[in-house]
Amino acid sequence: MSKIDVLLGLQWGDEGKGKVVDVLAPRYDIIARFQGGPNAGHTLEFEGIKHVLHIIPSGICHRDKINVIGNGVLVEPVILRKEFAALESIGFEPRTNLYISRKAHLILPTHRLLDAANEASKAERKIGSTLKGIGPAYTDKVARVGVRVGDIARSDFKAVYEKAKESHLNLIRSLGYDVDAFRVEDKTLSEYERQWFEALDFLKGLKVIDSEYYLNEALDKGLKILAEGAQGSMLDIDFGSYPFVTSSNTITAGVCSGLGIAPSRVGKVFGICKAYCTRVGSGPFPTELFDADGEELRQKGREFGSTTGRPRRCGWLDIPALRYACMLNGVTHLMLMKIDVMNGFSRIKVCDSYEINGKRTMNVPYDMEESISPLYSDYDGWLQDVGGVGDYEALPQRMKDYIAMIEQKTGLPVALVSTSPDRKDTIIRTEL
Ligand code: GDP
Ligand code: IMO
Ligand code: MG
Repeated sequence: MSKIDVLLGLQWGDEGKGKVVDVLAPRYDIIARFQGGPNAGHTLEFEGIKHVLHIIPSGICHRDKINVIGNGVLVEPVILRKEFAALESIGFEPRTNLYISRKAHLILPTHRLLDAANEASKAERKIGSTLKGIGPAYTDKVARVGVRVGDIARSDFKAVYEKAKESHLNLIRSLGYDVDAFRVEDKTLSEYERQWFEALDFLKGLKVIDSEYYLNEALDKGLKILAEGAQGSMLDIDFGSYPFVTSSNTITAGVCSGLGIAPSRVGKVFGICKAYCTRVGSGPFPTELFDADGEELRQKGREFGSTTGRPRRCGWLDIPALRYACMLNGVTHLMLMKIDVMNGFSRIKVCDSYEINGKRTMNVPYDMEESISPLYSDYDGWLQDVGGVGDYEALPQRMKDYIAMIEQKTGLPVALVSTSPDRKDTIIRTEL
């Protein structure tokens, strides 16, 4: 009997999860997404191809691997169909190796309108949502009025749809907005609905399964499964910087409910983090930089959203937040991404603790919006290009010192170091 390994982000998302799933996929039989939806943007780069995935797991470019969209994921049919087309245009056939859970919830066009209306109503307290309908669709799921992929087969589906739509439109009106004030992807509601129903027909032709049985039976047979997270631990609905979070459990616990896997069947937990921090959207970010260093991280790291194109906010590595995420997830291996982005820095800062109301603490506070002063240590940069270095020992000593410092402060091994967006520039240090 095998256990399921987990790969997830430890910061505010965009840590490089897509790249690492693609790198590790050859070691697994099945890759399964357990939460989130099209708010995610996971980038793969290989053989001159750059490809961004949203709902489809990042193992899809390995033809012999099965990819599963789990029950905890939200499916937006139009976006899913576009992802199929994009994959087909570069020679892949997701029809053959993608399965979708019957219990996954659907994002309706009006969920997306409602997302926009909710954001508009928050004025300067906007979450900075990706406007893919995530919050409203998960709200319906928890309120027990959601629409699931399996419902598409119901003879009364249209009535179920209309009922949900009407309640969303009423909610928008109750916020004081005219429904026509909002668009989905620049389309009116009726234009987008037409596209959505066409995409729903397309979805009917895909492999829809009872994924909890499929995955548990696969483990019974000794197959190897990698669970792929979306977003990051600091965006978790319970433990992130609430209310500036997403609407799902992004942490390891989400694997159990999002795939139907018992906690005793969880194996290794790979925690992905950047050598610095980024955040896209609003909300507290203690180590955020507003100076030339922040701009250098953004430019060198190409820190612009994979889903929305928005510039990402950049800052130094935040150890208290990282330790918090490692604790919540039971991380067994750290994977350090984008260290090459810091090649040009002569001095690098790392936040070791916070000062809050004159008191020093290593803990992430209940209210991250209160005034947090990060307390920093300084390190010498390595001022060397590391592109193409495949051997850990051949990395600059100061870079290795930086990595050792992270291991010491988190008490965890850095098992993988990534030095470029490309699949091939990945150093795996320890047997995983
Ligand atoms: P994800 O959401 O966690 O999958 O991450 P994204 O794909 O949204 O953002 C990560 C970005 O960094 C993508 O553009 C990747 O191609 C890129 N990337 C990943 N690893 C590295 C790395 O080690 N170095 C550099 N320079 N870029 C990387
Ligand atoms: P990946 O998987 C970074 C952020 C949004 C916003 C907040 C809520 O690529 O790492 P939502 O659309 O979920 O209602 O937005 O969460 N956010 C992400 N930030 N990476 C992501 O996914 C994100 N998914 C959502 O910017 O602040
Ligand atoms: Mg991303």
